[in-house]
Amino acid sequence: MKGIILAGGHGTRLRPVTLGVSKQLLPVYDKPLIYHPLSVLMLTGIREILVICAPDDLDGFRRLLGDGRELGLTLDYAIQDRPRGLADAFRIGADHVGGDSVALILGDNIFHGPGFSELLTTAAEDVDGCVLFGYPVHDPERYGVGEVDEHGRLVSIEEKPAKPRSDRAITGLYFYDNDVLDIAKNLAPSPRGELEITDVNRHYLARGKARLVDLGRGFAWLDTGTHDSLSAAGQYVQILEHRQGVRIACVEEVALRMGFIGPEQCHRLGERLAKSPYGQYVMDVAARAPEPDPHTPASRP
Ligand code: G1P
Repeated sequence: MKGIILAGGHGTRLRPVTLGVSKQLLPVYDKPLIYHPLSVLMLTGIREILVICAPDDLDGFRRLLGDGRELGLTLDYAIQDRPRGLADAFRIGADHVGGDSVALILGDNIFHGPGFSELLTTAAEDVDGCVLFGYPVHDPERYGVGEVDEHGRLVSIEEKPAKPRSDRAITGLYFYDNDVLDIAKNLAPSPRGELEITDVNRHYLARGKARLVDLGRGFAWLDTGTHDSLSAAGQYVQILEHRQGVRIACVEEVALRMGFIGPEQCHRLGERLAKSPYGQYVMDVAARAPEPDPHTPASRP
Protein backbone atom coordinates (compact mmCIF):
# COMPACT_ATOMS: atom_id res chain seq x y z
CA MET A 1 0.00 0.00 0.00
CA LYS A 2 1.20 3.51 -0.86
CA GLY A 3 0.55 6.61 1.22
CA ILE A 4 -0.42 10.18 0.39
CA ILE A 5 -0.42 13.09 2.83
CA LEU A 6 -2.46 15.96 1.47
CA ALA A 7 -0.95 19.11 2.93
CA GLY A 8 -2.14 21.65 0.35
CA GLY A 9 -4.36 24.58 1.19
CA HIS A 10 -3.47 27.96 2.57
CA GLY A 11 -4.61 27.66 6.19
CA THR A 12 -6.70 30.80 5.76
CA ARG A 13 -8.50 30.28 9.07
CA LEU A 14 -5.16 30.42 10.87
CA ARG A 15 -3.94 33.72 9.46
CA PRO A 16 -1.67 35.59 10.10
CA VAL A 17 0.23 32.58 11.47
CA THR A 18 0.03 30.78 8.12
CA LEU A 19 1.16 33.73 6.02
CA GLY A 20 4.78 32.76 6.57
CA VAL A 21 4.59 29.03 7.20
CA SER A 22 2.46 26.09 6.13
CA LYS A 23 -0.23 25.03 8.57
CA GLN A 24 1.12 21.47 8.63
CA LEU A 25 4.51 22.73 9.79
CA LEU A 26 3.07 24.57 12.78
CA PRO A 27 3.82 23.09 16.20
CA VAL A 28 1.35 20.93 18.06
CA TYR A 29 3.12 21.39 21.40
CA ASP A 30 6.51 19.75 20.75
CA LYS A 31 6.47 18.69 17.11
CA PRO A 32 5.24 19.79 13.69
CA LEU A 33 1.65 18.94 12.90
CA ILE A 34 2.60 16.78 9.91
CA TYR A 35 4.32 14.26 12.23
CA HIS A 36 0.83 13.14 13.24
CA PRO A 37 -0.46 12.02 9.81
CA LEU A 38 3.01 10.75 8.94
CA SER A 39 2.98 8.53 12.04
CA VAL A 40 -0.43 7.16 11.10
CA LEU A 41 0.80 6.03 7.69
CA MET A 42 3.96 4.56 9.22
CA LEU A 43 1.92 2.66 11.83
CA THR A 44 -0.11 1.23 8.96
CA GLY A 45 3.19 -0.17 7.66
CA ILE A 46 3.45 2.22 4.70
CA ARG A 47 6.94 3.32 3.66
CA GLU A 48 6.39 4.97 0.27
CA ILE A 49 4.70 8.28 0.88
CA LEU A 50 3.85 11.26 -1.31
CA VAL A 51 3.47 14.66 0.34
CA ILE A 52 1.27 17.01 -1.69
CA CYS A 53 1.65 20.67 -0.81
CA ALA A 54 1.21 24.22 -2.08
CA PRO A 55 4.12 25.58 -4.18
CA ASP A 56 5.34 28.01 -1.48
CA ASP A 57 5.55 25.29 1.15
CA LEU A 58 7.66 22.74 -0.67
CA ASP A 59 10.99 24.01 0.68
CA GLY A 60 9.77 23.86 4.27
CA PHE A 61 8.57 20.27 3.97
CA ARG A 62 11.79 19.21 2.27
CA ARG A 63 13.87 20.87 4.99
CA LEU A 64 11.93 19.06 7.68
CA LEU A 65 11.52 15.61 6.16
CA GLY A 66 14.01 15.34 3.29
CA ASP A 67 13.71 12.20 1.21
CA GLY A 68 12.62 10.18 4.23
CA ARG A 69 15.65 7.87 4.10
CA GLU A 70 16.68 8.71 7.65
CA LEU A 71 13.38 7.27 8.88
CA GLY A 72 13.58 4.26 6.57
CA LEU A 73 10.99 5.80 4.24
CA THR A 74 10.81 6.94 0.63
CA LEU A 75 9.24 10.37 0.60
CA ASP A 76 8.32 12.20 -2.58
CA TYR A 77 6.73 15.58 -3.04
CA ALA A 78 4.19 16.95 -5.48
CA ILE A 79 2.65 20.36 -5.90
CA GLN A 80 -1.02 21.25 -5.82
CA ASP A 81 -1.01 24.73 -7.35
CA ARG A 82 -4.43 25.59 -5.96
CA PRO A 83 -6.90 23.71 -3.73
CA ARG A 84 -9.06 21.61 -6.08
CA GLY A 85 -10.55 19.29 -3.50
CA LEU A 86 -9.30 16.23 -1.67
CA ALA A 87 -9.91 13.82 -4.55
CA ASP A 88 -7.40 15.79 -6.62
CA ALA A 89 -4.77 13.93 -4.57
CA PHE A 90 -5.42 10.83 -6.71
CA ARG A 91 -4.92 12.72 -9.96
CA ILE A 92 -1.71 14.32 -8.72
CA GLY A 93 -0.56 11.10 -7.09
CA ALA A 94 -1.57 8.61 -9.81
CA ASP A 95 2.02 7.72 -10.78
CA HIS A 96 3.01 7.37 -7.14
CA VAL A 97 0.13 4.96 -6.46
CA GLY A 98 0.81 2.92 -9.62
CA GLY A 99 -1.05 -0.40 -9.41
CA ASP A 100 -1.21 -0.44 -5.61
CA SER A 101 -3.82 0.30 -2.98
CA VAL A 102 -3.48 3.64 -1.23
CA ALA A 103 -4.05 5.39 2.08
CA LEU A 104 -4.86 9.10 1.95
CA ILE A 105 -4.56 11.17 5.09
CA LEU A 106 -5.16 14.87 5.50
CA GLY A 107 -2.09 16.69 6.75
CA ASP A 108 -3.94 18.39 9.59
CA ASN A 109 -5.74 15.42 11.15
CA ILE A 110 -4.63 14.12 14.55
CA PHE A 111 -5.58 10.62 15.69
CA HIS A 112 -4.71 9.05 19.00
CA GLY A 113 -6.17 6.08 20.79
CA PRO A 114 -5.72 2.60 22.20
CA GLY A 115 -5.03 -0.23 19.76
CA PHE A 116 -4.79 2.17 16.83
CA SER A 117 -1.85 0.47 15.08
CA GLU A 118 -3.62 -2.94 15.15
CA LEU A 119 -6.79 -1.33 13.87
CA LEU A 120 -4.85 0.30 11.03
CA THR A 121 -2.92 -2.78 9.95
CA THR A 122 -6.07 -4.92 10.02
CA ALA A 123 -8.04 -2.37 7.99
CA ALA A 124 -5.22 -2.10 5.43
CA GLU A 125 -5.13 -5.83 4.69
CA ASP A 126 -6.46 -6.66 1.22
CA VAL A 127 -8.47 -3.48 0.78
CA ASP A 128 -11.40 -4.30 -1.52
CA GLY A 129 -13.24 -1.02 -2.11
CA CYS A 130 -12.75 1.69 0.47
CA VAL A 131 -12.35 1.80 4.21
CA LEU A 132 -13.49 4.94 6.00
CA PHE A 133 -13.06 5.79 9.66
CA GLY A 134 -16.02 7.21 11.55
CA TYR A 135 -15.89 9.21 14.75
CA PRO A 136 -18.77 10.50 16.91
CA VAL A 137 -18.87 14.30 17.11
CA HIS A 138 -21.37 16.82 18.48
CA ASP A 139 -21.29 18.89 15.26
CA PRO A 140 -21.45 16.40 12.35
CA GLU A 141 -22.77 19.08 9.99
CA ARG A 142 -19.17 20.34 9.68
CA TYR A 143 -17.95 17.07 8.12
CA GLY A 144 -18.65 14.21 5.76
CA VAL A 145 -21.23 12.11 7.62
CA GLY A 146 -21.75 8.34 7.42
CA GLU A 147 -24.97 6.56 8.32
CA VAL A 148 -25.01 2.86 9.19
CA ASP A 149 -27.96 0.47 9.43
CA GLU A 150 -28.71 -1.83 12.37
CA HIS A 151 -26.19 -4.37 11.03
CA GLY A 152 -23.43 -1.76 11.02
CA ARG A 153 -23.51 -1.49 7.20
CA LEU A 154 -22.86 1.90 5.68
CA VAL A 155 -26.01 3.13 3.95
CA SER A 156 -25.41 6.81 3.20
CA ILE A 157 -22.60 9.35 3.00
CA GLU A 158 -23.27 13.07 2.86
CA GLU A 159 -20.95 16.07 2.78
CA LYS A 160 -21.68 18.69 5.41
CA PRO A 161 -25.43 17.99 5.53
CA ALA A 162 -27.66 20.62 7.12
CA LYS A 163 -29.57 17.80 8.84
CA PRO A 164 -27.07 15.01 9.57
CA ARG A 165 -28.52 11.48 9.66
CA SER A 166 -26.01 10.40 12.29
CA ASP A 167 -23.29 11.78 14.55
CA ARG A 168 -20.58 9.82 12.69
CA ALA A 169 -18.11 12.21 11.07
CA ILE A 170 -15.96 10.64 8.38
CA THR A 171 -12.42 11.45 9.38
CA GLY A 172 -9.58 12.50 7.11
CA LEU A 173 -8.08 9.02 6.75
CA TYR A 174 -9.15 6.87 3.80
CA PHE A 175 -7.98 3.50 2.47
CA TYR A 176 -8.76 2.65 -1.18
CA ASP A 177 -8.15 -0.10 -3.67
CA ASN A 178 -6.59 0.87 -6.99
CA ASP A 179 -9.96 1.72 -8.60
CA VAL A 180 -9.76 5.07 -6.85
CA LEU A 181 -7.45 6.35 -9.59
CA ASP A 182 -10.11 5.81 -12.27
CA ILE A 183 -12.90 7.10 -10.07
CA ALA A 184 -10.98 10.31 -9.33
CA LYS A 185 -9.98 10.73 -12.98
CA ASN A 186 -13.62 10.69 -14.07
CA LEU A 187 -15.03 12.74 -11.22
CA ALA A 188 -16.87 15.98 -11.99
CA PRO A 189 -16.30 18.98 -9.72
CA SER A 190 -19.03 19.73 -7.19
CA PRO A 191 -21.10 22.95 -7.25
CA ARG A 192 -18.34 24.60 -5.16
CA GLY A 193 -15.85 23.63 -7.89
CA GLU A 194 -13.98 20.93 -5.97
CA LEU A 195 -13.28 17.24 -6.52
CA GLU A 196 -15.02 15.95 -3.42
CA ILE A 197 -13.73 12.94 -1.53
CA THR A 198 -17.34 12.30 -0.51
CA ASP A 199 -18.23 11.77 -4.20
CA VAL A 200 -15.42 9.18 -4.47
CA ASN A 201 -16.75 7.44 -1.37
CA ARG A 202 -20.27 7.47 -2.79
CA HIS A 203 -19.03 5.65 -5.89
CA TYR A 204 -17.77 2.87 -3.65
CA LEU A 205 -20.96 2.93 -1.60
CA ALA A 206 -23.05 2.48 -4.78
CA ARG A 207 -20.97 -0.62 -5.59
CA GLY A 208 -21.49 -1.96 -2.06
CA LYS A 209 -17.78 -1.60 -1.42
CA ALA A 210 -17.56 1.09 1.24
CA ARG A 211 -16.85 0.11 4.82
CA LEU A 212 -16.94 2.31 7.91
CA VAL A 213 -14.65 1.43 10.79
CA ASP A 214 -15.79 3.10 13.98
CA LEU A 215 -13.28 4.89 16.13
CA GLY A 216 -15.06 4.74 19.45
CA ARG A 217 -15.38 7.37 22.14
CA GLY A 218 -12.07 6.28 23.71
CA PHE A 219 -10.28 7.72 20.69
CA ALA A 220 -9.17 11.26 20.05
CA TRP A 221 -9.68 12.70 16.59
CA LEU A 222 -8.65 16.30 16.85
CA ASP A 223 -9.18 19.29 14.67
CA THR A 224 -6.46 21.84 14.04
CA GLY A 225 -8.21 24.22 11.67
CA THR A 226 -8.63 27.20 13.99
CA HIS A 227 -6.45 28.95 16.57
CA ASP A 228 -8.51 27.47 19.39
CA SER A 229 -8.55 23.90 18.08
CA LEU A 230 -4.82 23.98 17.26
CA SER A 231 -4.05 25.23 20.73
CA ALA A 232 -6.37 22.63 22.32
CA ALA A 233 -4.65 19.87 20.33
CA GLY A 234 -1.31 21.09 21.67
CA GLN A 235 -2.65 20.98 25.21
CA TYR A 236 -3.98 17.45 24.70
CA VAL A 237 -0.57 16.27 23.53
CA GLN A 238 1.21 18.15 26.31
CA ILE A 239 -1.01 16.74 29.07
CA LEU A 240 -0.70 13.13 27.93
CA GLU A 241 3.01 13.35 27.27
CA HIS A 242 3.73 14.86 30.70
CA ARG A 243 1.48 12.45 32.53
CA GLN A 244 2.76 9.30 30.83
CA GLY A 245 6.33 10.19 29.93
CA VAL A 246 5.78 9.07 26.35
CA ARG A 247 5.57 11.13 23.17
CA ILE A 248 2.68 10.97 20.74
CA ALA A 249 3.56 10.81 17.01
CA CYS A 250 7.31 10.73 17.58
CA VAL A 251 8.26 9.62 14.06
CA GLU A 252 11.72 8.37 15.08
CA GLU A 253 10.15 6.10 17.72
CA VAL A 254 7.54 4.84 15.28
CA ALA A 255 10.25 4.11 12.67
CA LEU A 256 12.20 2.16 15.28
CA ARG A 257 9.22 0.15 16.56
CA MET A 258 8.11 -0.64 13.02
CA GLY A 259 11.59 -1.95 12.22
CA PHE A 260 12.17 0.74 9.54
CA ILE A 261 15.37 1.83 11.33
CA GLY A 262 17.58 0.28 14.01
CA PRO A 263 18.51 1.68 17.45
CA GLU A 264 21.78 3.19 16.20
CA GLN A 265 20.07 5.25 13.56
CA CYS A 266 17.37 6.25 16.05
CA HIS A 267 20.10 7.43 18.43
CA ARG A 268 21.77 9.45 15.65
CA LEU A 269 18.48 11.17 14.87
CA GLY A 270 17.95 11.99 18.55
CA GLU A 271 21.49 13.28 18.96
CA ARG A 272 20.88 15.99 16.37
CA LEU A 273 17.98 17.27 18.45
CA ALA A 274 19.71 16.67 21.76
CA LYS A 275 19.22 20.19 23.08
CA SER A 276 15.46 19.68 23.11
CA PRO A 277 13.57 17.31 25.43
CA TYR A 278 12.19 15.70 22.27
CA GLY A 279 15.71 14.80 21.13
CA GLN A 280 16.52 13.41 24.59
CA TYR A 281 13.42 11.25 24.39
CA VAL A 282 14.44 9.88 20.99
CA MET A 283 17.86 8.96 22.39
CA ASP A 284 16.22 7.30 25.43
CA VAL A 285 13.95 5.29 23.17
CA ALA A 286 16.99 4.15 21.16
CA ALA A 287 18.89 3.20 24.33
CA ARG A 288 16.00 1.11 25.65
CA ALA A 289 15.40 -0.72 22.36
CA PRO A 290 16.29 -4.41 22.29
CA GLU A 291 18.92 -5.40 19.75
CA PRO A 292 17.08 -6.12 16.49
CA ASP A 293 16.63 -9.82 15.77
CA PRO A 294 16.56 -10.37 12.00
CA HIS A 295 14.38 -13.48 12.49
CA THR A 296 11.47 -11.87 14.28
CA PRO A 297 9.15 -9.26 12.80
CA ALA A 298 9.28 -5.78 14.33
CA SER A 299 6.92 -5.17 17.25
CA ARG A 300 4.49 -2.30 17.05
CA PRO A 301 3.98 0.43 19.63
C1 G1P B 1 -12.95 17.35 4.51
C2 G1P B 1 -13.94 16.38 3.88
C3 G1P B 1 -14.94 15.87 4.92
C4 G1P B 1 -14.19 15.25 6.10
C5 G1P B 1 -13.15 16.24 6.66
C6 G1P B 1 -12.27 15.56 7.70
O1 G1P B 1 -13.63 18.49 4.91
O2 G1P B 1 -14.60 17.03 2.81
O3 G1P B 1 -15.78 14.90 4.34
O4 G1P B 1 -15.11 14.88 7.12
O5 G1P B 1 -12.30 16.73 5.62
O6 G1P B 1 -11.32 16.44 8.26
P1 G1P B 1 -12.88 19.93 4.95
O7 G1P B 1 -11.86 19.85 6.04
O8 G1P B 1 -12.27 20.11 3.61
O9 G1P B 1 -13.98 20.91 5.25
